[in-house]
Amino acid sequence: MKTFFMRRGSALRLVMLCWMMALFGAFMPAHAAGEAAAEQVAREQSQPLNNAPVWREVRSGQEHFTLAKGPEAGVLIQSEGNTWRQWRNGPITQYGGWLLILVPSAIALFWLVKGTMKLHDKPTGRKMKRFSGFERFAHWGTAITFLLLAVTGVAILFGKHVLAPIFGPEFFASLLVVGKLIHNYVGPVFGVFVLLMILTFLRDNVWQACDAIWIKRAGGLLGGDHVPSSRFNFGEKTWFWLGVTFLGLTVVISGLVMDFPNYGWTRADMQLANMVHGVSALVLLALSFGHIYMGTIGVEGAYQSMKTGYVDETWAKEHHEFWYDDVKAGKSGHPQDSVTGARS
Ligand code: HEM
Repeated sequence: MKTFFMRRGSALRLVMLCWMMALFGAFMPAHAAGEAAAEQVAREQSQPLNNAPVWREVRSGQEHFTLAKGPEAGVLIQSEGNTWRQWRNGPITQYGGWLLILVPSAIALFWLVKGTMKLHDKPTGRKMKRFSGFERFAHWGTAITFLLLAVTGVAILFGKHVLAPIFGPEFFASLLVVGKLIHNYVGPVFGVFVLLMILTFLRDNVWQACDAIWIKRAGGLLGGDHVPSSRFNFGEKTWFWLGVTFLGLTVVISGLVMDFPNYGWTRADMQLANMVHGVSALVLLALSFGHIYMGTIGVEGAYQSMKTGYVDETWAKEHHEFWYDDVKAGKSGHPQDSVTGARS
């Protein structure tokens, strides 16, 4: 009986203890909240409209309760977003802007000093097939989608500094709505073309011993001398690997993360994707100026090769002599359907 009462006594003590702890636990936050509220009331008197503690709590990143589903849906404000905004509107926009001004200026200066790289010998009038129809389709599909993305992307990043003061905020806003739609929908199409380009041109962009000669003589760009190379020279290979493959895929993957926000990304993921996307797109665009220059006014006859698929034999010999030798020997691996002079 005694042990029964003793047991009952200790059970009672346990229940009492739990009850007190529960009361204490329930009362404490209310008490703390009460204190915070009192502090806020006092603050309203001494510093009207200053509700800093509320915002400090909102920005603490602490997760609260919400019916909305999704990662960190209970976090009202993600403070790191401010850091992202400062990077995006600060160094990325500023240095990116300078890159887009300085690179074309340097190219323009180079062209004014050096002029177009001309053929040394006269064209023979005999044409060699350089690109198949499919290769040109992949190339121009990539180029057109890239240019659309470049124009709209530049407007998204720099528009408020350049276009808004010219067109006014209302027209600029409508312009950007259309621009953003184009950017979001053309992005994945560009991604498909980038993959096509990689698959199509991979084989002729692998490293070859002759690339070392090209590097040693800086591609003949400064001396203007003739440097033999295979189907693509080291400059083109750099553009292929660094520009199209590495930066192209980085831009596409980071763009897809932003295009499809409902795949469980957090806000931090999206902010990182945005910065990676911006930086890689700006560097890709700067590199593309060099490529477009070489493909148009920089090198005589280069544009014809991508436009028609054919080049003059003199062009082939002077720019890609090892490839020319291979084609002549029937070892290029690319069938020649015509070597007569009918095409231009
Ligand atoms: C309007 C813009 C463009 C022009 C005028 C242009 C012009 C050219 C020309 C003429 C060639 C042939 C060069 C030769 O015969 O050796 C070429 C090749 C090539 N272009 Fe473009 N292009 C443009 C945009 C682009 C863009 C945006 C990309 C990719 C993002 C690109 C990627 C390539 C690649 C990968 C090659 C083959 C060279 C290699 O694989 O290394 N092009 N381009």
